Amino acid sequence: MPKQIKTCKRKIQDDEFYTQMKDCIRELHKYDLRGKKIICPCDTKDSKIYQYLKYCYYDVDCDLTDWRTVDYSKYDIVITNPPFKDTREFIRFLVKSNKDFIMIVSDVVRYSVKNGKLDFGIPLYKGWDAQHFDRPDGTEIPVHCGWISTIQDTYGENKLLK
Ligand SMILES: C[S@@+](CC[C@H](N)C(=O)[O-])C[C@H]1O[C@@H](n2cnc3c(N)ncnc32)[C@H](O)[C@@H]1O
Repeated sequence: MPKQIKTCKRKIQDDEFYTQMKDCIRELHKYDLRGKKIICPCDTKDSKIYQYLKYCYYDVDCDLTDWRTVDYSKYDIVITNPPFKDTREFIRFLVKSNKDFIMIVSDVVRYSVKNGKLDFGIPLYKGWDAQHFDRPDGTEIPVHCGWISTIQDTYGENKLLK
């Protein structure tokens, strides 16, 4: 196989870090999402984020077309774990669209926001860490990540990142 294709394949596979159910329960139970229309734009029906929200009877859709093409005007809030390479672009896009979100980002992003090295122009809250993700082959991999959100949780547990 040519080197270029190998590289591309590796990049594609490297987006596949699936959020675990325990991390969805621990963070998402804190929010009162009743009456909100939710979109998980980087998720399939196998995604634990989607399954948890659906299990809780929320009005939720998932979509695995390009997140840039979703009609966000139909939704109140975005909840997902986006591809890490797109995180900054995705947050800027949602902020510009004035759309609330709860999402998993790398600790590098959380650290950079907290220390003023990265500014999305709005206050962001820090939720629980999420440090283990499932891979397509069924293995688990440690990655330092955690939840952030534009909205405060019901219990006031989340602290402002800056
Ligand atoms: C970090 S994984 C998380 C998957 C899922 N959201 C979860 O939490 O288990 C990011 C996912 O985004 C998908 N993805 C990559 N590029 C995308 C794009 N442009 N639009 C939507 N999803 C994309 C990848 O296939 C991958 O499954």
